[in-house]
Amino acid sequence: MLVLGIESTCDETACAIVKDGNEILSSVVSSQIDLHQEFGGVVPELACRRHIDVMIPVIDQALKEADIEMSQVDLIAVARGPGLVGPLLIGMNAAKSLALVLQKPLIGINHIEAHLYASLMNKDARLNYPCLGVVISGGHTAISLIRGLGEYELIGQTVDDAIGEAFDKVAKLMGLPYPGGPRIEELARQGNSQAYPFKPCKVKGRPFEFSFSGLKTSVLYTLKGQDGKNTGIPELTPQIKADIAASFQRAALDDIIGKIILAAKEYGCKDLILGGGVTNNQELRVMLSQQAPDLNSLWPPKGLSLDNAAMNAGLGYHRYKLQGHGDPLDMDVLTQMPL
Ligand code: KG4
Ligand code: ZN
Repeated sequence: MLVLGIESTCDETACAIVKDGNEILSSVVSSQIDLHQEFGGVVPELACRRHIDVMIPVIDQALKEADIEMSQVDLIAVARGPGLVGPLLIGMNAAKSLALVLQKPLIGINHIEAHLYASLMNKDARLNYPCLGVVISGGHTAISLIRGLGEYELIGQTVDDAIGEAFDKVAKLMGLPYPGGPRIEELARQGNSQAYPFKPCKVKGRPFEFSFSGLKTSVLYTLKGQDGKNTGIPELTPQIKADIAASFQRAALDDIIGKIILAAKEYGCKDLILGGGVTNNQELRVMLSQQAPDLNSLWPPKGLSLDNAAMNAGLGYHRYKLQGHGDPLDMDVLTQMPL
């Protein structure tokens, strides 16, 4: 079964052709980083305009690279949410148009579930259920219990910023370009992670919930002083910058890992599926393998950790098989969409 996947939840326009849920024939991603960089974050209206401009060329390119004709596609899978409403609508309308013209079924995909599915692609993964699913990206920070495909129980999420968003905001405070996550990681390699005693906030009585806004504020106060009147660090030398980056990263990653270990114990999980852009962080991979050597961690393969359409097409295959039919053509996009 050939599935054409479409992704446009935020600032990547992507299309992929995937065979039988697993074999990626093509995966084309058009990133908008250049467009949003000068604003230090995604500007939804600009994102929409770019999605409109590149959606059809990206679809054409995916078909060309997979060496198939449009008429050979059996199913269209599109990210339905969560995400930015304008960008989602552009992907959804492109997908609906294709489904209508080709007279093929359409499946709406949960973006968070797709990030988790990405880690199961290209490998023969046999999971021990229940397992843990952890999505850490620019828009999401969530730990779920997975009892099978489509059987999820959310056990913790962020009450304010997502972890990737916190990386991006801290980077912006230090004058680093968007997206900040990779820049912070790079800087942190030269820094002392114990130089500043940063700690993420605890959410009272809710051990699996995350809160990163306090951590971001601690960095702000360190840089600029508590009153915001530049009574902080007088000269931000490269070493101080690196120490702040390393200390921030240590605090944020320790928090994620601590909660993963706690949840695995509490729910008796041996397998852990990770997804989302922050899984690109190599320090996270090293720290997790050191601190939780008994957990079998599945990471997204290269090219599938950031937003892409192959994960939508792959998951779409299974969702369609599970449902036995496509979704209605009047399906709406959802800015909030729980697992
Ligand atoms: O999954 P993704 O492409 O988009 C969302 O669905 O949100 O993730 C993008 C996020 C950005 O916040 C980016 O800064 C972060 O992932 N990121 C990283 C790294 N690479 C990307 N964060 C920390 N370390 C990295 N190496
Ligand atoms: Zn994403």
